[in-house]
Amino acid sequence: MKLNVNGADVDVDDRFATSPLLWVLRDVLELTGTKYGCGIGFCAACTVLIDGRNTKSCQTPAETAVGKAITTVEGVSGLVVEAVRDAWRRGNVVQCGYCQPGQTLAATALLTADPSPDDAAIGSWMNGNLCRCGTYPRIRKAIGEASEALATAWSLPENSATKRSGSG
Ligand code: FES
Ligand code: FES
Repeated sequence: MKLNVNGADVDVDDRFATSPLLWVLRDVLELTGTKYGCGIGFCAACTVLIDGRNTKSCQTPAETAVGKAITTVEGVSGLVVEAVRDAWRRGNVVQCGYCQPGQTLAATALLTADPSPDDAAIGSWMNGNLCRCGTYPRIRKAIGEASEALATAWSLPENSATKRSGSG
């Protein structure tokens, strides 16, 4: 089967068709930025973007991603994730870091779908992404700050074409 990962088509042996995408990414394609937390759909450490939507890769048979754009923490790019990463850095969000690839991808998907989420929307969207270090207050604050930074960036003429696209 052919998967599109981070903008490139890659051939993956058909014997992995029903394997969780998480393991194809980590063990076959050696993209280890996507983390294994629980393996049963409870923590979202394994979050990737599939056609822009945050998706638990441990619950996604690899074959179901054929024909779709898979984006991992290694390949995500654009104004939205740049704003997220900058806010994360300024807010010193990360503690151990293990959950953070999934957290930042979920935040990127949120701000792509809704550039101005209120606190309730942030809480609801991020609810499934667990953090054993308890960085939730810093994550929520950083998403708010990334949202404000994006509003400013998108008001600039050179960035208007990339608004809401999540790329550029
Ligand atoms: S590792 Fe996928 S939800 Fe926990
Ligand atoms: S920063 Fe340690 S699990 Fe989230």
